[in-house]
Amino acid sequence: MSDIRLEGVTKRYGTFVAVDNVELAVAPGEFVTILGPSGSGKTSLLSLIAGLNRPTAGRIFIGGRDVTDAPPQARNIGLVFQSYALFPHMTALENVLFPLHVRGINGPSGRRRAIDALKLVRLDGLGDRRPSQLSGGQQQRVALARAIVFEPDILLLDEPLGALDRKLREELQIELKGLQRALGVTTILVTHDQEEALSLSDRIMVLGK
Ligand SMILES: Nc1ncnc2c1ncn2[C@@H]1O[C@H](COP(=O)(O)OP(=O)(O)OP(=O)(O)O)[C@@H](O)[C@H]1O
Ligand SMILES: [Mg+2]
Repeated sequence: MSDIRLEGVTKRYGTFVAVDNVELAVAPGEFVTILGPSGSGKTSLLSLIAGLNRPTAGRIFIGGRDVTDAPPQARNIGLVFQSYALFPHMTALENVLFPLHVRGINGPSGRRRAIDALKLVRLDGLGDRRPSQLSGGQQQRVALARAIVFEPDILLLDEPLGALDRKLREELQIELKGLQRALGVTTILVTHDQEEALSLSDRIMVLGK
């Protein structure tokens, strides 16, 4: 669990300003939601924090360390994308094992952790299914298990429930909140859904367009 601090973070694509001078401090274990309409720069901002993109200006600190120029793998961040982005040719279990393999955690201990992560998102017994054999809500839970299995310091969630119907979304909101509390992981979620922001988070930051 780490704190996150953004100082004057700006991202320009040519002359277009996608992220404009954002200041944000998230305490260790806190759940912050960034609320903003489509095109307000939510995904751009998360990808800067994750290290998938570099800011044009400003600094990003994680756990007090300046990570502005650090690659994604040096940040220990779990990321759930706006689309599920599971590997279609891998089973649910293999998808969850993947970030462990990348970190050199293999063998029975890795397998144990992946199975535990699937249990945590209530998918026990479905590890052998491929994404195409799972419902949207189940795929989203695999994505969540894959993001938490390596015990990240930070969890970044990009509209993780956006593709689900209302009932499932409300169920998963409750689960997500419970899971976040249990893990105590510092979390930033972005959404355009005000109700979702209110029901999930300790604090909300609003992005204008
Ligand atoms: N690589 C890029 N090059 C140029 N413009 C970009 C690039 N990526 C994003 N943009 C622009 O930056 C703005 C913010 O995009 P972003 O994807 O961050 O929005 P968002 O808030 O996540 O929207 P949504 O809710 O629809 O996902 C948009 O106008 C988008 O067209
Ligand atoms: Mg987006």
